[in-house]
Amino acid sequence: MNKLIEMENVEKAYKLGETEVHALRGLDLTINKGECVSIVGPSGSGKSTLMHIIGCLDVPSFGSYNLEGRDVGEMNDNELADIRKELIGFVFQDFYLMPDVSAWYNVSLPMIYNRIPPRERKERATQLLDSVGLSQRINHFPNQLSGGERQRVTIARALANNPEIILADEPTGNLDSKTGEGIMQIFNRLHEEGKTIILVTHERYVAERALRKIHLKDGMIEFEE
Ligand SMILES: Nc1ncnc2c1ncn2[C@@H]1O[C@H](COP(=O)(O)OP(=O)(O)O)[C@@H](O)[C@H]1O
Ligand SMILES: [Mg+2]
Repeated sequence: MNKLIEMENVEKAYKLGETEVHALRGLDLTINKGECVSIVGPSGSGKSTLMHIIGCLDVPSFGSYNLEGRDVGEMNDNELADIRKELIGFVFQDFYLMPDVSAWYNVSLPMIYNRIPPRERKERATQLLDSVGLSQRINHFPNQLSGGERQRVTIARALANNPEIILADEPTGNLDSKTGEGIMQIFNRLHEEGKTIILVTHERYVAERALRKIHLKDGMIEFEE
């Protein structure tokens, strides 16, 4: 097995004035390339914190995190930005689409940072929107799209730089179950195509799709099934 994510005894504490909030309290987690993993647990159990650390948006306060054999804990902000750009696509609810530009332009934005030439950007954005069923919506603005369609644009944007890992934090949280099913079918396809998928979810029908289900409680892995 090809280890992609290796965490040992990872802790994360946030400082809130005088007090510290211990969001993660010693996590050991290994995820191999090509796995589909769901992370479940009550509100406040540390799911989003874990996703931020996996996604190199934040670093552990203690413990080690290796991503593709690289020690993330030792990285500075530039190195973190580079590894994110190279390896990770985010489908997070708080990563909004830009409201004033079209669907295809939103999808092309990460390619600008990766210095892809303009014509190629539009072609690839169009292909990606097509792959998530939005070929008729490429020139729509976010406010002209439904919630499910906006989430598809977000997925297409996450795929812009062909990342190894897709991280999704409650990707179906704001959607009705039928629309959510459609989103899950896209994640299934991406998994079949070989992507490593890690998703946080409250919904049973979403979690059941994953082969591994990790239960978090009070910042620790309670059990895995
Ligand atoms: N930026 C932050 N500053 C302070 N405390 C935080 C911050 N982010 C999360 N927390 C706290 O850490 C704990 C875990 O939060 P979170 O990872 O968001 O849980 P979940 O996603 O499972 O609901 C909670 O007690 C939360 O209040
Ligand atoms: Mg959360």
